[in-house]
Amino acid sequence: MSQKVKEQVALDVEAFKKDTGITPGLATVLVGQDAASHVYVKNKIKSTEKCGMHSFHKEFEVNVTEEELLAHINELNNDTSVHGILVQLPLPKHINENKVLLSIRPDKDVDGFHPQNVGLLVTGDAHLKPCTPSGVMALLDHYGIELEGKEALVIGRSNIVGKPQSIMLIEKNATVTVAHSRTKDLQGHVEKADVVVAAIGRPKFVPGDWIKEGAVVIDVGVNRLDTGKLCGDVDFETASKKASYITPVPGGVGPMTIAMLMKNTLEAAKKCRN
Ligand code: GUN
Repeated sequence: MSQKVKEQVALDVEAFKKDTGITPGLATVLVGQDAASHVYVKNKIKSTEKCGMHSFHKEFEVNVTEEELLAHINELNNDTSVHGILVQLPLPKHINENKVLLSIRPDKDVDGFHPQNVGLLVTGDAHLKPCTPSGVMALLDHYGIELEGKEALVIGRSNIVGKPQSIMLIEKNATVTVAHSRTKDLQGHVEKADVVVAAIGRPKFVPGDWIKEGAVVIDVGVNRLDTGKLCGDVDFETASKKASYITPVPGGVGPMTIAMLMKNTLEAAKKCRN
């Protein structure tokens, strides 16, 4: 599925280049040595190039100052060959993440994290939407999963996944509940849900026997076990016995995030005011 989306983006990029002479460009920014972030960004760069787009990448030491980071973003904002800017999160504690996201030009904000784009998402007018929840919606759409009137449970309330995911599900007329670390009786909520999107970041946090028979389970969590193996937020072994559809980890949502980033980068290049 993610492969198909990326192949289509590659074709669209080729057509766009032919029409305009412009090659879409994505700039990635990585701070520090977090191993998972390095893997994610490497995959983003690889996909960008595979789709026929330019990739620009800059890495900073963990002790980079906020001013240095903001100065780099300012350069990217003014660089006409850059159409999309992605600052990999999380950032080190001494850097104000919101301030950094606010500094990215909204028309180059391919993550959809700038408050202006978040606002447009809420009002239903967004053109750049966050990649992971968009990838979840694309999967649900691809597999023909009807959302209208369904009980959808989002577990997690992050700005990256949980909050935007809930908005996107509401837009598709689902009845949405957002559960989080202070939720009482999570089990009761899971047992009622027709669709569960788990984005908590804790390995096998949701036991499979909580899942309603025939429910759809989308697992956004990517957790590394002590054995080195990756696993999701839902216990796949047991949940797959009850779910009518369930996404695996690894695979599933992760590659869709990157596919949506590719789409957003092309869209940004099409609309960029450079
Ligand atoms: N960290 C985890 N997910 C994401 C994402 O989608 N975008 C960025 N920029 N950082 C992340």
